[in-house]
Amino acid sequence: MTGAMSPDRRRVLTAGAAALGAAASAQLWLPAGAQAAGRPLPDGVFGLGVASGDPLPDGIVLWTRLAPDPLNGGGMPDRTVPVEWQIARDTRFKKIVRQGTAQARPAHGHSVHVDVRGLRPDTTYWFRFRAGGQLSRVGRTRTAPAPDSSGGNLRVALASCQNWQHGYFTPYADMLQQDPDVVVFVGDYIYESTPSATGVRRHEGTGEPYSLTQYRNRYAQYRSDPDLAEMHANAPFVVTFDDHEVDNDFAGDIPQDPGKQAHDAFVARLTAAYQAYYEHMPVRATAVPNGPHIRMYRRLEFGRLARLNVLDTRQYRSDQATTQEGAQDPSLTMLGAAQKRWLVDGLRHSPARWNLIASQIMMAETDLQVGEGKLWFYDAWDGYQAERNALLQEFRRVSNPVVLTGDRHLTMISDLKADFADPRSAVVGAEFVGTSISSNGDQDQAAFRAQWDPRRADNPHWKLLDAHRGYHLFDIRRDGIDARVRVVDTVVAPRATPSTLARLRVEAGRPGVHLV
Ligand SMILES: [Fe+2]
Repeated sequence: MTGAMSPDRRRVLTAGAAALGAAASAQLWLPAGAQAAGRPLPDGVFGLGVASGDPLPDGIVLWTRLAPDPLNGGGMPDRTVPVEWQIARDTRFKKIVRQGTAQARPAHGHSVHVDVRGLRPDTTYWFRFRAGGQLSRVGRTRTAPAPDSSGGNLRVALASCQNWQHGYFTPYADMLQQDPDVVVFVGDYIYESTPSATGVRRHEGTGEPYSLTQYRNRYAQYRSDPDLAEMHANAPFVVTFDDHEVDNDFAGDIPQDPGKQAHDAFVARLTAAYQAYYEHMPVRATAVPNGPHIRMYRRLEFGRLARLNVLDTRQYRSDQATTQEGAQDPSLTMLGAAQKRWLVDGLRHSPARWNLIASQIMMAETDLQVGEGKLWFYDAWDGYQAERNALLQEFRRVSNPVVLTGDRHLTMISDLKADFADPRSAVVGAEFVGTSISSNGDQDQAAFRAQWDPRRADNPHWKLLDAHRGYHLFDIRRDGIDARVRVVDTVVAPRATPSTLARLRVEAGRPGVHLV
């Protein structure tokens, strides 16, 4: 954990694992097997790069996908291909600690998910792949702290909402420099929207994706953003999806527009979307989809410092309410019964100082109605108030709950209150809505202020509201979380100037968040 600040990691980062020529270290690998030598692969099988994810104290998932023609289905021959992998303690792979061969199968888009175990906690590793005599770039990753460790500093980056057409993913260039231990991505990794002639960049294809090949092409295009690719190659990600990985505002097996998408067709679309999601994300085999279902809610432990509960607020939810009364209907569920039990159980029995909840959609109230009365977004937790309120009551008994959110394309940092209907009710936690990497592009800040500032009096729990693109960075220690809102001046150009928009602090044992 302390590695986030250690000079040796910084030096390595500056030198750039990527800059280390893969070819220079190729001679250290054993000669390619006869199978690979006899059946050559198209050039450029590693064009989608490498990634890692879901760190454990003794393990990590290493990812790549063989795709020499990434925007046209991948371009691989229709056969299983062996992919060798290595993970080492050094950039030159002289201290290899684990290695093996995985199978890249056509049924999984020739993706590879290696669930490496037997590693040391809180340790930086380098990894690479080889297939058909071709070497991947070198990736860097980091394991989680030991289960009994309680000190140190855990640096977490919170990202969401990267719309290719709205801009370049420039915040990742800054994130790379900040060298987080782990990146938490809470949804809208791709957008399913049709190609637009007026966007900063244009989506591939000719329309929205519906088939597996179409979703694969869309993910492959997103991975071609150089800043995103570089970030994936340098830190483990913990991901979950929101709606745009499938279809805007979908709920369970109900599409955005049930009048236009028949049920059977939408189930086929879900199946394709989840399959492509799994194929492109550095996640464990627990996330291999089963038809139109994928298990994404899960917990990750960072010693006794932090427990991260990753939610799925799409797959098990009731259809959205359409009225104020409907939003308060106690029969509506966001999590579904099983996930809700799992979450409450994991909060009640947590050994961790900090209990982080990665929720795709905002938990704090957003009252859009200026003055008397309330008006809510029905897709967020405001549309599922009975379940949200029960969870907030639960927070009273939880050690330092902090909710990490995306979706809103704004920075919204709030106190979480036991009952938003009662302005005097207790503060029970804090929420960070982590703006967006590029979605909504470079917003007109004055127009944003004119629209949103009048609502602040109706939402006194909001501590910071902003419409710049970027991400949030947290330094988590036992005594508190120091948060920085990192923003960029533009996403409409491939290079941007980053800065800290605000610093905030969450004190351990004192629910809520404040500007510093
Ligand atoms: Fe989004």
